[in-house]
Amino acid sequence: MATIVIDIHNHILPGIDDGPQTEDEAIELVKNAAAVGITHIIATPHHRNGKFNNNTSNIQYLVNKLNQQLSSQGIPVTILEGMEIQLYENLLNELTDSLLPLAGSKKYMLIELPKNHIPHFTAPIFFEMQLRGYIPIIAHPERNSIIRSDPGQLFELVNRGALVQVNASSITGANGRAKRKFALKLCKNHLVHFIASDAHHYKKRPFLLQSAYARLQRKMSPDFVEYVKQNAQHVLSGTEFHSLPPIHPK
Ligand SMILES: [Fe+2]
Repeated sequence: MATIVIDIHNHILPGIDDGPQTEDEAIELVKNAAAVGITHIIATPHHRNGKFNNNTSNIQYLVNKLNQQLSSQGIPVTILEGMEIQLYENLLNELTDSLLPLAGSKKYMLIELPKNHIPHFTAPIFFEMQLRGYIPIIAHPERNSIIRSDPGQLFELVNRGALVQVNASSITGANGRAKRKFALKLCKNHLVHFIASDAHHYKKRPFLLQSAYARLQRKMSPDFVEYVKQNAQHVLSGTEFHSLPPIHPK
């Protein structure tokens, strides 16, 4: 059986955020993913980030449309639905109606924090989400300046059940040495559960997943790479998994 490679965070759908603007650009981006061995792409357009709002039925429509185009062109990649939701105070009231979990899992939700602070309602919302059967995945915490200066705050959220996705570009160094060093530190402290591309454009922000895995293989271990890959499979199948116990970063 062919190996499954899953990307849980990217902007692949055309014309609805700062990802590809046309269908042709979206297809180019999928071809880029296919070229590096990705078989499943969970589309996560921005939602509530101050610039883009997206409704669930339009996302589902675009996912179906893109899948049809891919199969008619013989491109062996499956697109699944999702959203990258910027955390907002009223999130719980809209959880079941306006927000899409990843890959139809009814469980995993990709949540982005603002760049320069951690809202006071973060931990209470995450707690309540979990009571309702959801698991928040914090998108690219390495981009949050508070977490970079005090990663103990990320530890607290992980210790209470949140999961973490780090960008492949932060692992490879495409976002600079400081973020690369910080991303590796998070991995070493078991504060990373997923690596994803956050791809936006086939040239400017492509799928760097495999080069990130290759680097982690050297800097962490083959087992750790297998762990993050397996975790992504659990998102795809909507099943829970045991994560490595987080270590408080000193
Ligand atoms: Fe993103």
